Amino acid sequence: MSSDIQTKFDFIKANTSKINEVDFENLTFGNVFTDYMLVCDFKNGAWEKPVIKPYEPFTLDPSAKVFHYGQAIFEGMKAYKDENDDVWMFRPYENFSRFNKSAVRLCMPEVPEYVFIDGLKELINLEKSWVKKGKGNSLYIRPFMIAIGSGVIAQPSTQYRFCVILSPAKSYYSGDVKVLIADYYSRAANGGIGAAKAAGNYSGQFYPTKLANEQGFQQVIWTDDATHTKLEEAGTMNVFFRINDTLYTAPTSDRILDGVTRKSLIDLAKREGIAVEVRSVLVDELVEAAKNGSLKEIFGAGTAAVVSPISGFQYKDEYIELPKIENSFSAHLKEKMTNIQYKIEEDTFGWTV
Ligand code: COI
Repeated sequence: MSSDIQTKFDFIKANTSKINEVDFENLTFGNVFTDYMLVCDFKNGAWEKPVIKPYEPFTLDPSAKVFHYGQAIFEGMKAYKDENDDVWMFRPYENFSRFNKSAVRLCMPEVPEYVFIDGLKELINLEKSWVKKGKGNSLYIRPFMIAIGSGVIAQPSTQYRFCVILSPAKSYYSGDVKVLIADYYSRAANGGIGAAKAAGNYSGQFYPTKLANEQGFQQVIWTDDATHTKLEEAGTMNVFFRINDTLYTAPTSDRILDGVTRKSLIDLAKREGIAVEVRSVLVDELVEAAKNGSLKEIFGAGTAAVVSPISGFQYKDEYIELPKIENSFSAHLKEKMTNIQYKIEEDTFGWTV
């Protein structure tokens, strides 16, 4: 560690490494974690000195507010290794800024940049050997913050823990992704916390997603809570529709997460000369486009899932399978984005850090 970092971070060395026990070829998403984590507590109105220490369980008071009121937020980011063994994060300042927006919305303290960004750099540098080369390999980075103050009174905590854990990752989905369009359940509502990466936004999806899984669908496409007529997100991802040769994705709002992959794909599509319109696509419009053949592609976009083509969708009682297409926008945009992430192509946007 550099001396500058030593003054900013404490470091506790691990006695052993788990790396030789890991089968990097057969990773299931989010199950294996590296040797170290970063932890920084907020107490008495201030952030304490962050520590990089061996990955281990926490001990928390059973009345800690995170257990009772779900005061918890997180981010999903990735780092990639290039051919020279250098490791690159993708647009980390976007996640840093969104994390602090989520913190404000959940009445939590904002995390200082040196803790989040310098902490990530230091932790990832220490765990470089966990990042494998080659497209498809990455290090999934999970920063999160929980309310650790005790007491079941329903008020914001006064004590918090910010933590970063790292997980070597391959793909999130395997095989076809078929989706069910929600006509009853909602992910988010105006004035709610849908734009924040709050833990509760994800646990609220589990039950409707389980019902969809039981019907043979991998994910739910969320519609707006008020009318269930506008298509909003796909599972834990933003969603894009290609009708004829235009790509559509819903505008960000209280209900829609400002996804980093989403905004990167919009910029890339524009650069590649693909027409993009940021507007809501209506369910009726999608069904009509599927029937008249103008619906060419649907794909989800997110850090964990990258770009995930959707092979078909069900709305009410009707299932529509999308035709297979050559030269899909999703494959082209995924190729361009991953070329930047793995430093195969020049990063003209300045996204890699
Ligand atoms: C991500 O793409 O990082 C997400 O937030 C999805 C996650 C729930 C696995």
